Amino acid sequence: MSRPELQAPPEIYYGDAEASKYTNNTRIQQIQADMTYRALELLNLPPGEPAFLLDIGCGSGLSGEILDEEGYVWVGVDVAPSMLEVALEREVEGDLFLQDIGQGFGFRPGSFDGAISISVLQWLLNAETSHPTSSPPHRLARFFTTLHSALRNPSRAVLQFYPTSDDQVQLITSIAQKAGFGGGVVVDYPNSKKARKVFLCLFVGDGRAASAAQQLPAALDGDGGAEGKDAKATFEKRRQRESRREKSGKQKVAKGGKDWILRKKELYRRRGKDDVPRDSKFTGRKRRAFF
Ligand SMILES: C[S@@+](CC[C@H](N)C(=O)[O-])C[C@H]1O[C@@H](n2cnc3c(N)ncnc32)[C@H](O)[C@@H]1O
Repeated sequence: MSRPELQAPPEIYYGDAEASKYTNNTRIQQIQADMTYRALELLNLPPGEPAFLLDIGCGSGLSGEILDEEGYVWVGVDVAPSMLEVALEREVEGDLFLQDIGQGFGFRPGSFDGAISISVLQWLLNAETSHPTSSPPHRLARFFTTLHSALRNPSRAVLQFYPTSDDQVQLITSIAQKAGFGGGVVVDYPNSKKARKVFLCLFVGDGRAASAAQQLPAALDGDGGAEGKDAKATFEKRRQRESRREKSGKQKVAKGGKDWILRKKELYRRRGKDDVPRDSKFTGRKRRAFF
């Protein structure tokens, strides 16, 4: 079976059926979650501070769910209406935009403290039409230039993607550089066919001000297998992150609990929903059934 990005444009490929199949696949959920955790690690945000993030190609919110869990405020953009529909059904907390990233972003300069993108960039390597301004280099240039402007100085963008050749990596990094980014590519588990992951780790900001913070992070090594010490290391890192979050006072909100319900209601109010029930001392309490 050929790669998804070679089969159809994203908004067609991720139609209703595929959007639901993709989102409910537990293996995909696990892989996307792990790559999102790793992207956050590479983003290297200051611990304990709130951050406003952009999730590029957010899809149905598998990556966004981790951003929710980690307490970040985020905006997601995606070109596939069916994926965004599923994200809405799943009640992710980010604000969602239907948008083709190859057309560039229209966000205010310096809006975001960072950006992540999980399994999206390879889609921009395929021409949508034969029109010259729809060629991959044109689309990539618009994408990186407007992304650079939407990010705060200094900050980072971390984009995991699936290149098929070194030439593709070269094309992407050279266009990102021309758009003003520093940084480069971090390849985790480079010697494992299965676990190898490519992260484009981009820096905004001049080298002098941010030289210590803006050094390309080290890649993970080993075989990255699901069993053994690599998996243990992943969970160890997750635990470390959780303890860091506890120390910083950032709360992980239990799904379905009182705080979670209050947060959802606040979100709906901000989105202009007018039938949100009032908060009361009974909010989040288990209801008894009376017969
Ligand atoms: C493999 S999914 C990943 C979704 C999400 N990041 C996750 O972790 O589950 C790839 C997503 O990229 C989106 N995408 C592809 N090309 C795009 C484009 N030109 N503009 C915006 N989104 C795009 C697709 O619609 C799809 O939702």
